Amino acid sequence: MIPFFVPEFTKDMENAAIDALRNEKFVMGESVFKFEEEFARYTGTKFAISVNSGNAALQLSLISLGITEKSKVITSTNSFVASANCILMTGAKPVLCDINYDDGNIDIKTTNEKPEAIIPVHIYGNPCDFDSIKSVSETHKAPIIEDACQAHGATFDHKKVGSIGDVGCFSFYPTKNMTVGGDGGMVTTNNEEIKKQIDSLRDNGRRTRTEHDKLGFTMRLNTVNAAIGRIQLQTLDEKNKRRRELASLYKKFLGDDCMLDENPKGTSVYHQIIIKHQKRDEIFSHLSKNNIGVAIHYPKPIHKQPLYENLGYNLPISEKFSNEVLSMPSFPQLKDDDVKVICEKINEVL
Ligand SMILES: Cc1ncc(COP(=O)(O)O)c(C=O)c1O
Repeated sequence: MIPFFVPEFTKDMENAAIDALRNEKFVMGESVFKFEEEFARYTGTKFAISVNSGNAALQLSLISLGITEKSKVITSTNSFVASANCILMTGAKPVLCDINYDDGNIDIKTTNEKPEAIIPVHIYGNPCDFDSIKSVSETHKAPIIEDACQAHGATFDHKKVGSIGDVGCFSFYPTKNMTVGGDGGMVTTNNEEIKKQIDSLRDNGRRTRTEHDKLGFTMRLNTVNAAIGRIQLQTLDEKNKRRRELASLYKKFLGDDCMLDENPKGTSVYHQIIIKHQKRDEIFSHLSKNNIGVAIHYPKPIHKQPLYENLGYNLPISEKFSNEVLSMPSFPQLKDDDVKVICEKINEVL
């Protein structure tokens, strides 16, 4: 049996959690501020503001940028539904773009709409083509919120994702490249005004200890999760390096044609290692029969989800793509021999 994913749980994570529970305030303890400082340093931004999910990070970023029900916000249809749900939550109109068939990332040229903001997603840990995003952003003076929920540590043009746009959003859901031992998220920015807004929005719109001047939420990251996050951040680069090694192994055994392209101006952190083939369903059942865990990201692009179908989009590349992609086991503890066995089984079908 080779599982699709195994969460990492170490003695260091356990010790940090117990220490935080014993010695700190449960909410907004010291670990929260230390984690934020360390994450900002890692990403290369002035500020990092922790929240309780990637969805919260995206939603609060949009609100802090003044997005309202009059706005239009561009995102990619090939993503987890949260990339678009955050837009609906503000009352704004999601503008869904089709994708590049070669890497699954947003192809912003597939829309002519004038956006008030753009949420490019670095899907599967591979940075999207930021040059084209930047040019649309400059034309329409639309800020960029990077959805880096799958891309902790990835780079574009030698800069860490999350530091390239106006705001970066990260998720620490357990399957991500790093976790906090539960749900969690982070916003990164160089803009002090956005930092102040999000500080307040995550804390019920608090202005001072007893005054609240805006409509906010309870979206803070718990202290115990921040303490675990600090430990996970220490080994993120090592884990990403292992993910890249695993991707090279898959490439070696399967050949380049089966694999998605990596952005030539960037470095992917392979949150998912994807193979793409017209015999996807056959490969899926052959691997399942052989007790190898696989998954599909995503079987339905966002515009085909029941919540979005009524928008009436026709985005053919993503529809073809969603029928051909298969996510391979790619967690850092996976052994080289496991990849060899998985690829032998795939090659029996090809
Ligand atoms: C691309 C993308 N955006 C947003 C999210 C939302 O993050 P969370 O699940 O932490 O709310 C996720 C995570 O699942 C994601 O993969």
